[in-house]
Amino acid sequence: MAKAHAITLIPGDGIGPEVSAAVVRIVEAAGAATGATFEWHRFAAGAEAFEKYKEYIPQALYRSIEENKVALKGPVTTPVGGGFSSINVALRQRFELFANFRPVKNLPGLKTRYPGIDLIIVRENTEDLYAGLEHEIIPGVVQSLKIITEKASTRIANFAFDYARKNGRKKIHAIHKANIMKLSDGLFLRCCRGVAATYPDVTYAEHIVDNTCMQLVMNPYQYDILLTENLYGDIISDLCSAFVGGLGLVPGANLGTECAIFEAVHGSAPDIAGKDLANPTALLQSAVLMLHHIGEKTTAERIQVGLEKVYTEGKVLTKDVGGSSGTSAFCEAVLTAMESA
Ligand code: NAI
Repeated sequence: MAKAHAITLIPGDGIGPEVSAAVVRIVEAAGAATGATFEWHRFAAGAEAFEKYKEYIPQALYRSIEENKVALKGPVTTPVGGGFSSINVALRQRFELFANFRPVKNLPGLKTRYPGIDLIIVRENTEDLYAGLEHEIIPGVVQSLKIITEKASTRIANFAFDYARKNGRKKIHAIHKANIMKLSDGLFLRCCRGVAATYPDVTYAEHIVDNTCMQLVMNPYQYDILLTENLYGDIISDLCSAFVGGLGLVPGANLGTECAIFEAVHGSAPDIAGKDLANPTALLQSAVLMLHHIGEKTTAERIQVGLEKVYTEGKVLTKDVGGSSGTSAFCEAVLTAMESA
């Protein structure tokens, strides 16, 4: 029997424990059919970890990711306007997970305002305003630092173009605000242009971020890969999730050269937490990305087929996508669909 895959699991908080429990059940069931086994190393992070260990990110969690090289993560709440800084940002920076990869694609059978969407957001994941480097200069005056480097911009552009070439994607739009932030976004664009010149087989274009939002809503089909800095990518991701049915659906991967953390685009959704209302699809599709990443293609495909069957039948869906079923019923439906697929 093949060695079990050791995976660091961060269930997160809010809806995190509900969606991650569903996803672990489905991955385990798929693995049982394909011969893949998993060893889940569970860790708390954020407020829950602080209560237990007086650390927002326990050292043992860092060590676990270092050893396992791969983690599946539920959402973690970040307090607004104060409190501790983002666990997500800390993990991404610590492991240099420089590429945030977010494919946005319709699920079969699920009616949305925009059928046939198939675009990818490639977001720089370590710097920009999103790093949260802020300080109060004097009372009433605060400075937030937007750091953009040639190294990180070139690295993310290389990632996007390389992905496009290897996966037959045709077009990359660099998203920017270099008309106003001439130096920082200007540098980002210069790096993108430099890399684009070495990939003549991939069409390269540039759109200003505010116009991009309008263009996306008017005609998202013009986009293939959106290559963005960190903050624009964060905002555009939520916008794009609405094309395919919302935040309950869109997966993501934080990729570095050594480690990878797979997590949904959505947050901890405190408004629906603990009510069996959360849609586990986004985290499940993140797990599918993870399974491909660790070479478990057959297991990944088994889950994808089961998931698509549930959406195609449209009988057991969660409320966010127009159904009336809960997280656990949806999970059962995917398990049954995998069995009969
Ligand atoms: P959110 O993504 O948690 O929720 C926005 C809306 O989408 C809510 O109405 C929510 O009910 C709905 N929603 C989200 N995921 C859903 C799912 N799986 N199924 C059904 N409905 C879903 O965004 P919000 O409210 O802005 O943030 C809440 C907290 O999450 C904040 O503390 C934020 O910092 C954190 N957050 C964490 C992330 C992470 O850990 N990667 C990512 C984004 C936000």
